[in-house]
Amino acid sequence: MGATVGRIPRCGTGPTGSLGVLRRHCRFASRTTTLLRSADFLAKLFILISELNSRDAMVPVMLCGLHARRVASHMQTSRLNVAMIGHGFIGRVHSNAFHQAAHFFQIPYELNLKVVCGRNRATLEAMASQWNWEEVATDWTQVVTRPDIQVVDIAVPNVLHAPIAISAAQAGKIVLCEKPLAASVQEAEQMAEAARRVPNLVWFNYRRVPAVGFAKRLLDEGRLGKIFHYRALYLNQSGNDPSKASGWRYRRAEAGSGVSGDLLSHVIDMATYLNGNIAELCATTHTFASGRDVDDAAIVMVRFKNGSVGSFEASRYGVGCSNRNVFEINGSQGMLRFDLEDMNRLEFFDATQPPNLRGTRKLLVTGPDQPYAENFWKPGHTIGYEHSFIATLGDFFTALSRQEVFRPSFGDGLAVQRVLERVHKSAETGAWIKCN
Ligand SMILES: NC(=O)c1ccc[n+]([C@@H]2O[C@H](COP(=O)([O-])OP(=O)(O)OC[C@H]3O[C@@H](n4cnc5c(N)ncnc54)[C@H](O)[C@@H]3O)[C@@H](O)[C@H]2O)c1
Repeated sequence: MGATVGRIPRCGTGPTGSLGVLRRHCRFASRTTTLLRSADFLAKLFILISELNSRDAMVPVMLCGLHARRVASHMQTSRLNVAMIGHGFIGRVHSNAFHQAAHFFQIPYELNLKVVCGRNRATLEAMASQWNWEEVATDWTQVVTRPDIQVVDIAVPNVLHAPIAISAAQAGKIVLCEKPLAASVQEAEQMAEAARRVPNLVWFNYRRVPAVGFAKRLLDEGRLGKIFHYRALYLNQSGNDPSKASGWRYRRAEAGSGVSGDLLSHVIDMATYLNGNIAELCATTHTFASGRDVDDAAIVMVRFKNGSVGSFEASRYGVGCSNRNVFEINGSQGMLRFDLEDMNRLEFFDATQPPNLRGTRKLLVTGPDQPYAENFWKPGHTIGYEHSFIATLGDFFTALSRQEVFRPSFGDGLAVQRVLERVHKSAETGAWIKCN
């Protein structure tokens, strides 16, 4: 399921070759520096690349001059040029994360905000200037295959994820894609297949909230015992707000689905991350606004493979809730509860304590010895929404430099898409549907 981010794509078949060599940059950096200084640089570089390739027994080496020049520039600078497609809400969040990641994480790359792509040149230029992007472009097809781009970040409406990701992956780029991964399982399968040989991630950023990471640690340590219940809500009130309800999220042709792809996808990813795979589900969806062709609310009953039962609810009519992303887990030895609207806290009830000392503890998850305590501020100094994106990038590029597996990958995005498809099928038929 997880992509080994350091896996080297085949060399000699396009720009993937230079990317592959880049990934081994750290290991061979000192040797490369010596080579770069020498007069017969190109000949020696050729030999070095031959050695690198033979180690993985990947390909015969056929470096053209252009290729060699690209390799040399990567090796000297460790600079990765980023192209971001989309510059709306999440485009600003990603821009911030690209700027901040190396401030909080020791990553051996300089993330250079090279080009941002959108449709309206005026708003694009204003955004580029505010967030320090070097260039703007209005046609993504001209951007994602550019030889000087190493990272393509997808921050556009959902139905555009597949064509952009497939094109970027086929050009050998590192591909970062917003959730939901795709508008259908078929698209998600094509994306996962195209991205098999390139480093990739899907922005299920809530896995990187420290309180969520700490919940995962407590669960992995068995602190909750046998899990009985997993319940989750993701509610906002945008559907009840006419100014918001006219946007692309409310049109199937651009969003693929409604609240299910938008908010329920996060719930499914978080639930499977924390509580394991889903065995079967039964769902209902509802559309409140007449004439709208996407779901406004989704309610799902779930049986997990670990024997627990669960319920998921997502709605854009959760009036009173701005971004209420909640889970609560009951086990034989305790309870965990999280609410994104109070994201530095994790509630923990320890049922192994003597009865007269039991009570729900509201842990402030800012360290010490808690996730990202070493990366962000001192204990007690709280963090925000943006840090979950910074941590996602920090972990991703750390894994890339170490050739380690990173998750959530496109494989995880595909798994969520398969659950979403079953939600829609169950909502149509009223039947329980198995998830394999
Ligand atoms: N991870 C999260 O928590 C999270 C939060 C919000 C949004 N998202 C996801 O991010 C994506 C974008 O959402 P948003 O809220 O930023 O939307 P938005 O409407 O604020 O921005 C969409 C952007 O896409 C651009 N765009 C549309 N069509 C384009 C095209 N053909 N070429 C280039 N650019 C184009 C628009 O100009 C705009 O800049 C969605 O997939 C959404 O699900 C994820």
